[in-house]
Amino acid sequence: MQRQNFPPHDHTHPLFKCVVMIASLLAILVIIAGIVVCIGYKTMKPKVPEIIVTRAELDAVDFNHSNLLLTIKVSLVMTAENANLKSRVSFYDTSFSLNFNGHRIAKWAIEPFGINANSSVIVNYISQPRTIHLNAVEGEDLDRSMELNMISVDLKGNSKTRWRLGQFGPIKFGVHLNCQLLLPVDSTTIFPNCSSRVALRFVILSR
Ligand SMILES: *[C@@H]1O[C@H](CO)[C@@H](O)[C@H](O)[C@H]1NC(C)=O
Ligand SMILES: *[C@@H]1O[C@H](CO)[C@@H](O)[C@H](O)[C@H]1NC(C)=O
Ligand SMILES: *[C@@H]1O[C@H](CO)[C@@H](O)[C@H](O)[C@H]1NC(C)=O
Repeated sequence: MQRQNFPPHDHTHPLFKCVVMIASLLAILVIIAGIVVCIGYKTMKPKVPEIIVTRAELDAVDFNHSNLLLTIKVSLVMTAENANLKSRVSFYDTSFSLNFNGHRIAKWAIEPFGINANSSVIVNYISQPRTIHLNAVEGEDLDRSMELNMISVDLKGNSKTRWRLGQFGPIKFGVHLNCQLLLPVDSTTIFPNCSSRVALRFVILSR
């Protein structure tokens, strides 16, 4: 019944009001930031740079059944593409590996390079002939696939890309290439058109 024990509205509320005000302010800032990012995204139309395997062929393949030694040589053409209309892109920490059935054929890295807005760069690679020792089962599998005029080789690649998105400072994206290349034994060129994907473990927004 002693109603005056309850503090009157205007006495305890300044703190509460303050909290509400700060919260509203933060909410407004978040909304503004969202709108700015949205407009930036719409106007810049950012495109994650890609590495695309455009051509591949088996330059040499030789399999000796008696000692189970496979000698193999591959050549590749890749295109690094920057579809952004305003930003130059740099690629760095770029490396690739080629494997046959888990056996390393080649591993190489390339120097950092840049690509102007809306353009691309061609990256050629020709492996050294590489001899790998297969086990009997792999030898049989290889015989079968060679009869079908096809050898399956795995190409993996990693690169990091960095570019500017208007005022937002550099954006960094990792890209990952994972292509199974079905190469004809008769050295016919194939056009795999296999593109890199964004590697989510390396996405950094920084100034
Ligand atoms: C295959 O390997 C065996 C054993 O090393 C060798 O004697 C033979 O000459 C090789 N054959 C070819 C075609 O190279
Ligand atoms: C981007 O490049 C393509 C092909 O080179 C060209 O046709 C197009 O006009 C370019 N776009 C801009 C905005 O520069
Ligand atoms: C490569 O693939 C992309 C996307 O799947 C497609 O738009 C493009 O036309 C293809 N290019 C060739 C040469 O097949």
